[in-house]
Amino acid sequence: MRRRLVVGNWKMNGSIAKNKALLDTIIDGVRDLHDSDCVVCVPYPYLAQAQSLAEHTNVAWGAQNLSSMDDGALTGAVSPGMLVDYGCRYVIVGHSERRMLSHETDDTAAARFHAATKADLTPIFCMGETKEEREADWTEYVVGRQLDSILRRYGPEDVSKSVLAYEPLWAVGTDNPATPEQAQEVHSFIRKRIAGCDKKIAKNIRIIYGGSLNPSNAKALFDMPDIDGGLVGRCSLDAKAFVKICKAA
Ligand code: PGA
Repeated sequence: MRRRLVVGNWKMNGSIAKNKALLDTIIDGVRDLHDSDCVVCVPYPYLAQAQSLAEHTNVAWGAQNLSSMDDGALTGAVSPGMLVDYGCRYVIVGHSERRMLSHETDDTAAARFHAATKADLTPIFCMGETKEEREADWTEYVVGRQLDSILRRYGPEDVSKSVLAYEPLWAVGTDNPATPEQAQEVHSFIRKRIAGCDKKIAKNIRIIYGGSLNPSNAKALFDMPDIDGGLVGRCSLDAKAFVKICKAA
């Protein structure tokens, strides 16, 4: 049985005061949830704050990116070891905003994925097609290519150390979520492709959905057989909404 997982992606939002109010309410709201995992991925400067507030609670914390290198002359970069120092267990890799705005490619995302697994961090590896790609019926080609960038390169054993996130770009930040059926179709495709390499790993890996998740649509999405939770952007900044989504899981 796969444990459900809900991850909040705060993106570039927050302040020390706002984070404290948000995280305190989330921690309180999910205190009695023991059958699923709840994670917040915060901006780098707030990792220490997340650690001090969430340590010994059932909320885990992580980052939104990492360097593929361990150290060196890389101004502005943050290494896997630095995230481990702050108690992170998760890190988002290859988010569409980084693929689009920061020139992330399949190769650079795969290298970050590998760096994360080497450091015993769980990468939340994001994949998804644009609206144009979906309309051209390229969804499986694009998502398959993104998945293969880690599956073929590092093998199913390494992929089993990650969480996969299907985030169609046309649904991220748009108020236009995928329907449960649309998301299920792609999640099932991802799981089958992994099964082609290793059936047991395919059965156990968590594949979460992201893109305009909210308290009203979460349950129907999470009820789908291959959807194991969610990656939540905007609603993760609203403690009540985020707690509702965690409870739906
Ligand atoms: P959204 O963002 O929930 O605001 O659509 C999801 C994401 O970018 O992970």
